Amino acid sequence: MPSPLGTALITGASSGIGATYADRLAKRGYDLILVARDAQRLRALSEKLTREAGVKISVLPADLTDRAAVRTVEARLRDDESVTLLVNNAGIGPKGTLLDDDPDYLDTMIELNVVAVNRLAVAAAQAFAARGRGTIVNIASVVAYIPERFNGTYSATKAFVLNLTQAIHSEVSGKGVRVQAVLPGLTRTEIFERVGGSFDQFPASMVMDVADMVDAALAGLDLGELVTIPSLPNEADLKAATEARLALGPNLSHDKPAGRYSVANG
Ligand SMILES: NC(=O)c1ccc[n+]([C@@H]2O[C@H](COP(=O)([O-])OP(=O)(O)OC[C@H]3O[C@@H](n4cnc5c(N)ncnc54)[C@H](OP(=O)(O)O)[C@@H]3O)[C@@H](O)[C@H]2O)c1
Repeated sequence: MPSPLGTALITGASSGIGATYADRLAKRGYDLILVARDAQRLRALSEKLTREAGVKISVLPADLTDRAAVRTVEARLRDDESVTLLVNNAGIGPKGTLLDDDPDYLDTMIELNVVAVNRLAVAAAQAFAARGRGTIVNIASVVAYIPERFNGTYSATKAFVLNLTQAIHSEVSGKGVRVQAVLPGLTRTEIFERVGGSFDQFPASMVMDVADMVDAALAGLDLGELVTIPSLPNEADLKAATEARLALGPNLSHDKPAGRYSVANG
């Protein structure tokens, strides 16, 4: 029997945040499609969750820096009408500061964190809007709000994800489609080990357990939040930042430069 909730397609499901979403969504009763490169880990997770939750799970191994592989995942989002939820999560972190990092590695990061995320979000938005039903969860990062404090290319990829989510929301909100950007702070996963780093370089008080992060993000989704920052104590701070940004709106495009630039005929 297919799940009445439909199927959640989760990218980066082999470890960390994606694997935790897989666990939580299976236990909520979603069928799953698990995407990442490591097919063996995906199969092991699929067997465990099938046993524990009794839902239907498919494994779709894909390297999302490979554009042909991304198209295969896109096709699944478009053609499989059971898919009701995309968790657009796969991503990699930086090897160091922007001044120390390898430009070719940063290109790979953009390919995964931006190009693939965009293709899958667009495919899901188009398919879900046509079906009048669906939810897109895009995993950004708090560094979208504090680019001064982290690798610039990584922060920029996450600002892209936040911006994309806000823009998609404005296009699909009247069409039965929900969108959420999740902005984790430091979250204990494999992300830094994969690039030779460790969470030990940060104060423990800044690093959240991955289960808590995902549970808070899902609670934010249940509350109907467009932007969820699991560690932010006072939601009024995010509201104020959003209102300040939107207040710029009426003055961002005029036929004359502002007076302070003293442009002739301005
Ligand atoms: N942990 C944090 O502190 C933190 C904070 C803010 C945002 N985030 C974001 O959270 C997301 C998940 O990261 P995580 O912390 O859970 O890290 P993680 O444990 O390293 O997991 C990353 C996932 O992405 C997959 N992946 C990596 N390269 C891939 C590729 N080329 N194609 C397909 N899948 C690929 C990995 O699986 P395979 O190796 O099997 O492909 C793995 O499943 C990322 O977008 C990250 O930027 C993390």
